[in-house]
Amino acid sequence: MWNSESVKRQPSGVIMKSVVVVYSSKSDNTAKIAQAIATEVNCQALKISNEEKVSTVDLKSYELVFVGTGIYAGNPNADMEKYLRMADFGDTKQFAFFITWGGAGTTCQLVTEKLRSILEMKGQKVTTDIFSCYGGWRYALLRRGHPNIKDLEDARRWSREIVSHMQK
Ligand SMILES: Cc1cc2nc3c(=O)[nH]c(=O)nc-3n(C[C@H](O)[C@H](O)[C@H](O)COP(=O)(O)O)c2cc1C
Repeated sequence: MWNSESVKRQPSGVIMKSVVVVYSSKSDNTAKIAQAIATEVNCQALKISNEEKVSTVDLKSYELVFVGTGIYAGNPNADMEKYLRMADFGDTKQFAFFITWGGAGTTCQLVTEKLRSILEMKGQKVTTDIFSCYGGWRYALLRRGHPNIKDLEDARRWSREIVSHMQK
């Protein structure tokens, strides 16, 4: 049944089967962005967490992988870092990072450089086009309410651009 709500929720029409979103998230900030991207580009969003067996998330069959993480004391989410270090990606594919953070200093740059070097050492390609937005947390006033509607919209637009760039 089509109605205005379901029409709004339809993906942009950009469909590329070999795209996937993987993310790690402690307080669901990065999860919200992951879901927005997955809906926009019509793909799965797979959570990487410590409880799950790393081997169950197999990226070999994908061409484009969106990777999302929050930042913890200047580091990526430990589950994501461990996963990227251990995973067998198969052939070379394209990775694109999305980050939620508190805006502390250069930690976003530190984290993306760390993840980039892990992937490049494994022969993977990483775009320099990175999405980041603030993510608030319960015990701090700073950044409360993020990611907000605009952040989600920005993430959707960014993901569309990444996918369409890949298709050229
Ligand atoms: C213990 C802790 C440490 C954090 N360290 C940083 C940091 O170093 N730099 C930063 O910008 N944000 C930092 N943040 C903010 C988180 O990166 C931000 O809230 C993020 O959206 C969390 O994502 P997640 O809920 O998807 O895990 C920290 C938050 C917590 C709770």
